Amino acid sequence: MNNTFLESVALRRTIYDLGSSLPVSKETVTKTIQEAVRTSPSAFNSQSARAVILYGDESKKLWKIVLDALMKIVPKDQAADTKSKIAAFDSGAGTVMVFEDMSVVKKLQDDFPIYKDNFALWSHHGTGLTQFSIWTALANIKVGASLQHYGNLIEEEVRKTWGLPSSWSLIAQMPFGSINSPAGEKTYQPIEERVLVKG
Ligand SMILES: Cc1cc2nc3c(=O)[nH]c(=O)nc-3n(C[C@H](O)[C@H](O)[C@H](O)COP(=O)(O)O)c2cc1C
Repeated sequence: MNNTFLESVALRRTIYDLGSSLPVSKETVTKTIQEAVRTSPSAFNSQSARAVILYGDESKKLWKIVLDALMKIVPKDQAADTKSKIAAFDSGAGTVMVFEDMSVVKKLQDDFPIYKDNFALWSHHGTGLTQFSIWTALANIKVGASLQHYGNLIEEEVRKTWGLPSSWSLIAQMPFGSINSPAGEKTYQPIEERVLVKG
């Protein structure tokens, strides 16, 4: 099958072993992430996704915030493993933080009361699509990344540190960098059992 989009989709993998030297310029990474966020779909074209790209020391600041928060709650015997896990995220070139602007979601709920109960769910669908676009677009320029979720532990501190609006809800953190080691082998369930074809 000749489909460059699907080739990029297959190229996207979870990369944990990251290096700090990017295979492309910072500007290219920034433009790639901006374009992924700009073109991703959202419910009612509400464009509620927000992102903050942290490079170098700014990214290190984030992973220190995460580590400090984790050290308050992880059992002592897991502290060393936790430190080395976070150190791997910290060793990349940067991190994209992905948010949803809940003031946009609230406005949709107010403006379209008959769909009120759906907008929070659709906001989550939308952020997933945006995250996928960013992750895949980075893979396409040979930048490795993974998807992390520490928002509940660090959201307040993150808003304070980078002066972000209180309506921005932190959904995911995507550490990225050069690919030091490729992702491990991935197995797939038989596609015929997952995708049925009728007619
Ligand atoms: C919604 C979602 C949440 C995920 N959360 C995490 C996470 O918190 N930490 C992590 O290391 N990987 C996380 N992952 C990555 C998955 O573990 C990974 O995508 C899956 O094992 C398939 O591997 P691949 O990304 O290399 O294709 C998440 C993936 C998805 C789609």
